[in-house]
Amino acid sequence: MDDLLSYRDQFPILGQSVYLINHSLGAMPARTAERLREYGETWATRGIRAWEEGWWEMPVTTGNKLAQLMGAPRGSVVMHQNVSVCQSLILSCFDLRGRRNRIVYESLNFPSVKYVYEQHAQRAGAEIVEVPSDDGISIDTDRMIEAIDERTLLVPISHVIFRSAAIQDVAAIVEKAHRVGAMVVLDVYQSVGTLPFSLTDLQVDFATGGSVKWLCGGPGAGFLYVRPDLVEQFSPAATGWAAHRHPFAFAETMDYAPDHHRYLTGTPAVPALYAAESGYDLLNEIGLPRIRAKSQRQTSRLIDLADARGWRINSPRDPQRRGGSVIIDLPEGAAIVRELAHRNILVDYRPGAGIRLGPHYYNTDDELEIVVDEIDQIIASGSWQVHATSH
Ligand SMILES: Cc1ncc(COP(=O)(O)O)c(C=O)c1O
Repeated sequence: MDDLLSYRDQFPILGQSVYLINHSLGAMPARTAERLREYGETWATRGIRAWEEGWWEMPVTTGNKLAQLMGAPRGSVVMHQNVSVCQSLILSCFDLRGRRNRIVYESLNFPSVKYVYEQHAQRAGAEIVEVPSDDGISIDTDRMIEAIDERTLLVPISHVIFRSAAIQDVAAIVEKAHRVGAMVVLDVYQSVGTLPFSLTDLQVDFATGGSVKWLCGGPGAGFLYVRPDLVEQFSPAATGWAAHRHPFAFAETMDYAPDHHRYLTGTPAVPALYAAESGYDLLNEIGLPRIRAKSQRQTSRLIDLADARGWRINSPRDPQRRGGSVIIDLPEGAAIVRELAHRNILVDYRPGAGIRLGPHYYNTDDELEIVVDEIDQIIASGSWQVHATSH
C-alpha cells in the first residue's frame, strides 16, 4: 500500500501524462495556481502596502521553509534567482588574487557552476583543479580529498551528480577542506526534495540550489545558505540595497546587514517566491525520509527492469549511493526520448549520460512499467527513427 499516492490528485499533469522528469522540472502542485492568484490579488488590492505586509521579507520567510527541509536554522537561507547567481555572489566574498587561490571541484560538476568559477578564475589569475572521474558516473572521494590542500580556497561541489545521480561523500570532503583551511560550497540542486540531509550536520560553509526539480517550486526561486557563524565574516561585492543594514534609509554608502540579509541584492522576485512555496509545504508535510524510502524502492525497480533487458545503467547500483534518478544509456537515446514525448511520457536525455528517469513521491509503480515497455516497443518497432534526424 503506497499512501503517498493520495497526493496524486494535487498535481494536474499526472492525469494527462506519465511524468518521470522530476530531476528536471517537478510537477506543479494545484495549490501553486491558487498562490499565484493570491499574488495578483495582493498586488491589485494592497498595492504598495504589500511590501511591508510580507513581500520585502519573502527572501527570508520563503527561505525558512527550505531551511526546515535541509536541516538548517531559521534565517540561514535566502532566496535568489538561481544557482549561477548564488555561486557568483559567493565568489564575490573572496579575493582570488591572494596566495590561497585554488578552486577544486569534480569534473562532473554542473556546467553552469564551472562557467562561473572558470570565468572568475581567469580574470583573477586563480587556479582551477578539476578532479576527473574514471567511469563518468562518480568521483573517487580519495581523489577529491587528495586534491584539496593548503592552497585551496574553495571546493564547490554537487551533492548529487546531475548526469548519473551519484551521491558524493560530502562529510569526508568537508573534513579535509576544513583541516587545511578551505571552504566547501555545496550545490544541493539534485538532492534537495528527494534526499534527507542536514546542512548543519554536514558543516558545509555555503550551499545553493533551486526549486525547479524535486522541490516542485518552479523557476526563479534559487537559494543560498551561509553557515550561521560565518555570516559576518564576508561582505559580498555582488550586493545591493536589500543587503544594507537600513535599506530604507537610502544611505550614501554600504553598511552591510549583520545577519543573512547581507547576502541579498536588490528587489526580490516576488511572484517566483509565491509560486515556489506550495511544493516546499508538501515536502515538509510528508517528510523526506518517506520520500527517500519510496524513491530508493522505485529507482531500484527501474534498474531491475532495465537489467532484465540488458540495458546499460549509468547510475550507481547501490541505492545508498544513488539520488532520485536512474540513467539508462541506449543507442539513439535522444530520439527515443522525443518519441516518448509524443506518447505523453515525459523523461529527458543528457549527452554522454543517457535517458534520465526520475520518479517522485506521486508516481505509481505502474508508470515505471509503462515507460520501460514503451521504450521496448519503440526500439522493436524502430519508431525512434522518425526523430533521429530532427534537432
Ligand atoms: C546540480 C545542478 N546545479 C545547478 C543547476 C541549475 O543551475 P541554475 O539554477 O543556475 O540554472 C542544475 C539544473 O539544471 C543542476 O542539476
